[in-house]
Order: sequence, then structure tokens, then C-alpha cells
Amino acid sequence: GLALSAGWARRPAETGAQLRSEVPLPQAFSVPLPIPSVLAPVESGADEERYEIVQREVDAEILPGISTRLWTYDGSFPGPTIESQRGRHVTVAHRNELPVPTVVHLHGGRTPADSDGYPTDLVLPAGWTEPERSGGHGGHGMSDERAVVSDVEREYGFPLDQRATMLWYHDHRMDFTAPAIWRGLAGLHFVRDDVEDALDLPGGDHEVPLMIADRAFDADGQLAYPSLDSTLTGEIGVEEPYLAGVLGDVILVNGAPWPEYEVDTGLYRLRVLNGSNARHYELEAIADDGRRLLLVQIGADQGLLAAPVRHESLPIGPAERYDLLIDFGDLPVGAKVRLANRLGTGRCADVMQFKVVREGSGAPIPEMLADDLPEWDRSEAAVVRDFAFRAGRMDGRHGWLIDGLPFDPGRTDVTARHGDIEIWRLVADVHHPIHLHLVGFRVLTRGGGEPLPHDAGLKDTVSLRPGESAEIITRFDAYRGRFLFHCHNAEHEDMGMMANLEIL
Ligand code: C2O
Ligand code: CU
Repeated sequence: GLALSAGWARRPAETGAQLRSEVPLPQAFSVPLPIPSVLAPVESGADEERYEIVQREVDAEILPGISTRLWTYDGSFPGPTIESQRGRHVTVAHRNELPVPTVVHLHGGRTPADSDGYPTDLVLPAGWTEPERSGGHGGHGMSDERAVVSDVEREYGFPLDQRATMLWYHDHRMDFTAPAIWRGLAGLHFVRDDVEDALDLPGGDHEVPLMIADRAFDADGQLAYPSLDSTLTGEIGVEEPYLAGVLGDVILVNGAPWPEYEVDTGLYRLRVLNGSNARHYELEAIADDGRRLLLVQIGADQGLLAAPVRHESLPIGPAERYDLLIDFGDLPVGAKVRLANRLGTGRCADVMQFKVVREGSGAPIPEMLADDLPEWDRSEAAVVRDFAFRAGRMDGRHGWLIDGLPFDPGRTDVTARHGDIEIWRLVADVHHPIHLHLVGFRVLTRGGGEPLPHDAGLKDTVSLRPGESAEIITRFDAYRGRFLFHCHNAEHEDMGMMANLEIL
């Protein structure tokens, strides 16, 4: 089917704190799209790889001629890309040379609990002596029982026994995830498998990762972020800007502002991540002759669909990923195609541009994709649970809550049985992209009706619109232990909208 998701946002898209940059911004499409470098393993065994990443500060040129201090994985934003094969065990040793504790989470990974990056499972910076104090700005009164596991170096182990897809790794420290990602702690991690290989999809420079993330820059060219203290005092309504999420006025793709990518007249595969803290996009591709190019969705957060879904425009909430094909075959050399954002106003209506610079050879779009998608039936569910994602008050302050409670690492919110199929009914007051760790899920219903076309496939994040509900179904067939679910508006997450899921 052909899907036009017009009117995706039921209220203005930009409801967060719209920061304004105070430095001159470059013209759109004047900077080439950078492609994050692929990290080489330091060791490669028969069925495993070992990587090393140093988390460190660098001064980078994000805006032309301006130096910006970033927190990075291995010196770049985005961090280096890791390429893995399904079932080959990957170890990533992270060393923390940043001035703050960090936590690494592989988003979308089927990862045992001890490597999943629990928010208090810290990698301390070298020389860090002060214990983490409670009562942080997250606004939820932390107890002193916070279990801190710490070291300046930490090995994370990833079995990666999961369907081929694009994962991403990012910081996940309790109360501080949003500012840490904002400063640059995010990178891509691809998993490949035989199902994908058999399809012969576009590869090489015809497979393009696109990490879309908005930022804002202060008068010194540094990343602007609202003062956290300002949210802690006084009466703060849910419309208060920081609480709603932080929005920049510069759209970065792979760390470059409104970049341009040169293509031929062939078929391209776009691996898109919304790596923004709070901004929602609705992507569309418009050629300079006014023609709209279809975005052919072949995969979701957790891998390939059974068959492609063709979109005229495609909404993407924070942390969601799409695997897309786009065909430049009908365009003449010299044509330009703007990847635009229907939800953005002003310069935030632009994302990037493709420029057709040569003839290429076309390729057909496979109409049959993967046959390994889990199909769970409603009748198989052992448990049905309800969760409300809403703003609320706690300790006299506003926060973002799940069923009226802010995150508490000492409380188990859900106990599930390993192997069970469960249905979760989610309801949201405003836009909330809801993310479940460890396992993928299918969207059963949205707003009481059929899921929308972009809900297809296996997901790990479902983006709920204001006032909307959805039912998701999953099976806890991976590991036992303590995992998380939360809103992936990173400010909402830091302000308490996260809960513990114990799988026994
Ligand atoms: Cu992308 Cu719990 O996170
Ligand atoms: Cu939220």
C-alpha cells in the first residue's frame, strides 16, 4: 500500500524548548555528508570480535569554521560504526576519559542484563573520587541505596543473536542521559545475517547510514543545553519548555549541518536513525522539479519487513530506525532531492539533500523480504498489562511518570516470566516514543484501530501521539534479569519516565 501520514502530529511538532543558536549557521546543503568510520576490531577470533573504545572529549568542527567541544566515543560524533554478523559474540571495552561517569547501552540489542547498561551501572572517569550524589536534577528523590558498580574501564559483551538490523549505542546514565547524548555520546552498530545477504540489497556507498539529530550552539560555538537547575524550583507546568524536551535549531545528519550526499541514478538504501533527544520528524523526499520520491520501507527497528511498505512521508520519533530504499532512477543527472521534515518549521523543515551527479545502474526492489518475522497471536498472551505515560507531580515538582511513578532503581515495576507472550497496552498524554529493552515487539493496535503503515515489522520503540494508545505484543524469549522500558524522549527519560522489568 501507499501511505501518506499527513497530519501525523496532532499539535504543533515543536513543543519542546526550541533553542536558538547564537552563531552564524551555514547555508543548507553546503557541507558533504560524513559517513562515520567503521571500527576495526583489536582482536578477531573464530566466532568473536573484540573492540576498544575510548570515551573522550574532542574539539570538533561541526559548523564550518567553529570549534565545538564534544563528548565522544573514540573522538568522533557519531561514534565509530561497528559491523557485526549475527551470532558472532562482540566484546566492546570502553574506557572513560570523560569528566563524568557514563553508562553504555546498545539500543535494540538482545543483551544479557549485566552488559545492558543499567543506569546506575557506571563506568567512572579516571581519577573520579566523589561518590555520585543522590537528589539529582531528575527530580525523583533517589535513595542512598543506589548500587554503583564502577571502573574506569568496562567490558560489555554482546551475543548479537538477533535479526539483522541497525542498532545504536548511546549513554544511559541515570538522570543524565539527555545531556550526555546531546554532547555526542551516540554511535551506530549494524548486525548482518544470511536473510539480509540473500536479498542483495544496495551496499557500499549505496547503503547510507543517516543519524539525524538536532542541536543548538551558543555564542561561543558550544552546544547549548538548558540549565537543569531552572527546572527544579517553583511551579513548572507540563508546558514548561525543558520538561517537554530539548529541541535544537540545527539539523545534523551524521554530525554535519544540513549536509549533501552525491548519488547516481541508481537504487539507494538509507539506514535512518532519529538520534534526537526530543524532536519528531516526518520525512519526505522532494525532487527539485517538485516530484515526490517514494520512501520504500524494507525494515523497522528490529530488522527487515516481510514485504516493502511504500510511504510518501514517514514519521520517525526519537530512537526509531527505518531501513529504506529510494530510487533516483527517474531523475536526470544534476537533479537535487531534498530530504525534508514535514513537522519542522523554518530551517528545521530541511534535513539534507541528495544531488544526482552521474548515471548509475538501477536495481529492482525485492517484493519479498524476510520470512523470519515472529508472529504472535493475541490469544497466546499469558498476561495483558496497562501502562500510562503521563506528566505528574512528585515531591512537589513536575516530572514524567509511568503509572504515576518516577523511575526508582530499587523498585521492580513488572515481573514477567521468561518465555511468556505478553500484551502491553500503552497510553500517552503527549508525544512519547516508548522503548522496551531486550526484545522486539509487534504493534497490534494503535488508537484502538489498525496499526499505521509505518508500525510494520518488529519494533523496539513505538511513537505514541498525544492522547493516543497502542497495544504491543512480545515474547520474553531472550535473557532473564532486570531490564528497562522507558520513554525515549531523553528529557522525559531523565525526568523519571522509566521503569524496571524483571524477567524470571
Ligand atoms: Cu536507546 Cu534505554 O535506550
Ligand atoms: Cu516521553
